[in-house]
This record gives sequence, C-alpha cells and structure tokens, in this order.
Amino acid sequence: MSANSEKDIPVNIYRPANPFTAKCVANEVLVRPGASGDTRHIKIDISGGDLRYLEGQSIGVLPPGEDKNGKPNKLRLYSIASTRLGDDLDAKTLSLSVKRLEYQNEAGEAIKGTCSNFLTDLKPGDEVRLTGPVGKEMLLPDDPNATVIMIATGTGIAPFRAFLWRMFKEQHIHTDYQFKGLAWLFFGVPTDTTVLYKADLEWLAYKHKKHFRYDVAISREQKNAEGEKMYIQNRMAEYADELWELIQKPSTHTYMCGLRGMEDGISQFMTKTAEKSGVVWKDFEKQMKRDGRWHVETY
Ligand code: FAD
Ligand code: A2P
Repeated sequence: MSANSEKDIPVNIYRPANPFTAKCVANEVLVRPGASGDTRHIKIDISGGDLRYLEGQSIGVLPPGEDKNGKPNKLRLYSIASTRLGDDLDAKTLSLSVKRLEYQNEAGEAIKGTCSNFLTDLKPGDEVRLTGPVGKEMLLPDDPNATVIMIATGTGIAPFRAFLWRMFKEQHIHTDYQFKGLAWLFFGVPTDTTVLYKADLEWLAYKHKKHFRYDVAISREQKNAEGEKMYIQNRMAEYADELWELIQKPSTHTYMCGLRGMEDGISQFMTKTAEKSGVVWKDFEKQMKRDGRWHVETY
C-alpha cells in the first residue's frame, strides 16, 4: 500500500470537544534583525497521545480564553512545517511557522490576533491544546519521480518545508520514498530578512542542484524588468515557457500556499501563459483540480 493512500490519511484524531494537550518544546525567531514583523518556528511535543500527521496537513490550535462575546476562543488552523517524523526524527513533535498578527484598527488602536500571539508568546513547557490533523488538499504525490512546483508567500512556506525535508533531508531514513523528481520552489517575502528558513533552503538548492530549484521574490527590495514590485507571479513569469511545459505533464503537481491575495496574480499569470498555446487556463485549471494536480491552500 502506498504511503498516502486514502486509508492512511489521519484526520480529526482529536476534536475541539476533546483536544490533545501538547507542550511547547521550542520557540525560535525565524526573521532576522531589522525585519518588520515576527514569525516563529514553534516545536510542539505531541507524544503521549494518538496524534500523527502527514506532510501538507494542518493542525488546529485552541487558544485559551474567551472571545469578545464571552464564548471560548475558537480554533485556528496552522500548516504543519515538519515531516511526519518531526524535526527530531522521532515522530514525537510537530513544528509550525507562525506569524504574529498585529495591526491598527480604524480607531488607531493596536490589535493583536488571538491565536498567533498566543503561539508566538509560548515558552518551552507551556501547554497547547491541539485538534486534527486536517487537510487532504496539500498531500505530496506518492510518485518519487514527480515534478513538484511549490508557490509560497510568507508562512505559506510551512507545508513546503515539510515536503523538502521529506524529499531531501530524510533520504537516509526512508525505504519507501526516495525522491528523484524535480522540486521547484517559488517563495515570495517582503524583505531579505524575512526569507524564512533561508540558510536551509539555500543549502538544499546547492546540495541538490539536479532535483531542487529555488527562486525567491523579494517584494520590497526587487523589481521586475517593467519596474514593478517583485511579487511571486512576476518571478514565475521569468520562467513562463518552462513552467508551462512542466505544468502540462501528467506527473507534475503544483501547490500554492500562503496569502489568499496571491491567487488572482497567479491566475492572471497562468491565463496569459496558457493563452500563448491557445489554452483557456480556467478550463485547464479545472481539469488539473479534477486530476488532483493543482493544490491550493490560502488564507
Ligand atoms: P484573529 O484574532 O483571529 O484576528 C484575525 C482577524 O483580524 C481577521 O479575520 C480580520 O478580521 C482581522 N484583521 C487581520 N488583519 C487585519 C488588518 N490588517 N486590518 C484590519 N483587520 C485585520 N498562519 C500562520 O501564521 N502560519 C500558518 O502556517 C498558517 N496556516 C494556515 C493554514 C490554514 C489552512 C488556514 C485556514 C490558516 C492558516 N494560518 C496560518 C492563519 C491562521 O489560521 C490564523 O488565521 C492567523 O494566525 C490569525 O489568527 P489570530 O487568532 O492571531 O487572529
Ligand atoms: P508586500 O507585503 O510587499 O505587498 P508576509 O506574509 O511575510 O507579509 O509575506 C507575504 C508576501 O506576499 C509579501 O512579499 C507581500 O508583498 C506579498 N504579496 C502581497 N500581496 C500579494 C499579491 N496580491 N500577490 C502576490 N504576492 C503578494
């Protein structure tokens, strides 16, 4: 049986009425000095219960406390950033990439997002109530020769970190999955200081040149040839023909994760690119979705 066959996909092992109480093991700042914003790599001990998960799934977090209506805070979802083995390779942890949400409301008051602030403030030993896992949209194809195109903005890198670690950092462990295809990551962030997991990604791209391509779009520091802000779709446009060739192959899976706002830009880019071959992108996209080759998780 293949690793990801329907029967093996763990879903909702824990539900909000009966969550699993896990413990924070580590909380590391992912952005570098000078960065605006605060994103953390949070490792959570899930041992002692029945929780397990696959790369590409999300976990529910139940923040403590009540909302403004006096109801218990509702769960928020977070993409799991570690492989099923966890960062310590003992299947006892899961890791998240969490951005602290802070903004000013119309009255000029500083507002802090409930769950992201709970998570980014966690200290080792603190308890976290978890539900799930959930999600079948972002699972890796079983085919070790597949082409896997990943399009991430910000914390959208989380599931792709899990993919890439499984493909390239755990090869010595797997007997059933030796990736020999092509993984191509497009990663959009505001500044160089906010390229999450930068050193790891650059090392992987150097070490696994034949199987991993990595292109970053730094929106506030780079521009395209037309002088526009370097959004991820503008970086992809530099490889339009090559991407279109790949995307048409039945063994290619394309994944998008991160800001909901990027969907329009990617769609416009794909429409323009497909049009050059006389293909209507909307129809093609529909077929890819039906074939399970076009995977989107934006928030
Ligand atoms: P809340 O207290 O819920 O506040 C959010 C609300 O604040 C918004 O709904 C909006 O009404 C308002 N708001 C937000 N920004 C502004 C603004 N600028 N101006 C005015 N109002 C605003 N997040 C991650 O960090 N990492 C992940 O890996 C991740 N994965 C996800 C996976 C999935 C499948 C989904 C659905 C979401 C994911 N998220 C992820 C987002 C996460 O679930 C939360 O939505 C996020 O952390 C904010 O939650 P919060 O409780 O801090 O904010
Ligand atoms: P910018 O913030 O310069 O507008 P983060 O979640 O860390 O803020 O990163 C999200 C990245 O996605 C940023 O570089 C952000 O650019 C970029 N972005 C914002 N809107 C879009 C969009 N519509 N299409 C593509 N990228 C976007």
